[in-house]
Amino acid sequence: MELVHAIETRVSVRSFTQEKIKTEDLKELVRRAGLAPSINNSQPWKFLAITNQDLLKKMAKAVSERIGSLPVKDKEDTNRSFLSRIEWYSTFFEDAPAIIALLMKPYESVLEKGAELTHEEIDRMRNHPDMQTAGAAIQTILLSAVDLGYGACWMSAPLVAKPDLEKLMKVQSPWSLVTFVAIGKPFGSSARKSKKALSEIFEIIP
Ligand SMILES: Cc1cc2nc3c(=O)[nH]c(=O)nc-3n(C[C@H](O)[C@H](O)[C@H](O)COP(=O)(O)O)c2cc1C
Repeated sequence: MELVHAIETRVSVRSFTQEKIKTEDLKELVRRAGLAPSINNSQPWKFLAITNQDLLKKMAKAVSERIGSLPVKDKEDTNRSFLSRIEWYSTFFEDAPAIIALLMKPYESVLEKGAELTHEEIDRMRNHPDMQTAGAAIQTILLSAVDLGYGACWMSAPLVAKPDLEKLMKVQSPWSLVTFVAIGKPFGSSARKSKKALSEIFEIIP
């Protein structure tokens, strides 16, 4: 598939058929993610594929429970309808054939070896290069998913239950869960979101 076609047809997919994802495809997605740019080529990542449906259900339950325990702003909203909507967007991965989770460990910047600046100062100054690195890897997975005939959705909402998820996934220090992608064969078609016109988002500085 042409890259531009994958870019133009990618949408967030949140409903999947039950068809399993081939292990070779999971490996290929991660192989490509591993080619993404990273801060100082540190490649501070590890990718965990989870296809175990029981584990996915346990993870979703942990997310639901966390959301259920969040205090609500609108005290009139006795049905917690706002949080219920968020809950679905945070837990639909339980019905996905797989998720690919991105774990990262702290990177060391070249600058901190020579400059009198703390890691945190450099991190803030450079706008969190580790998170930028994560974005490059995840976008590579999303586009590659389209290329291989899958649909996927980037998910950060479940991170409300990060400690519980890390426990269930047996993530150990120095690794930590950054985000994940739900993936599978799309069930039905997902609506394309409208995107801003080029004229709105682009400017050439003469
Ligand atoms: C950093 C990030 C986190 C996201 N987390 C979630 C999520 O937790 N749940 C969800 O349903 N969608 C999530 N999305 C998907 C966005 O909602 C989606 O990309 C956006 O609505 C635009 O739609 P499109 O991807 O179809 O173009 C996330 C996207 C990004 C970039």
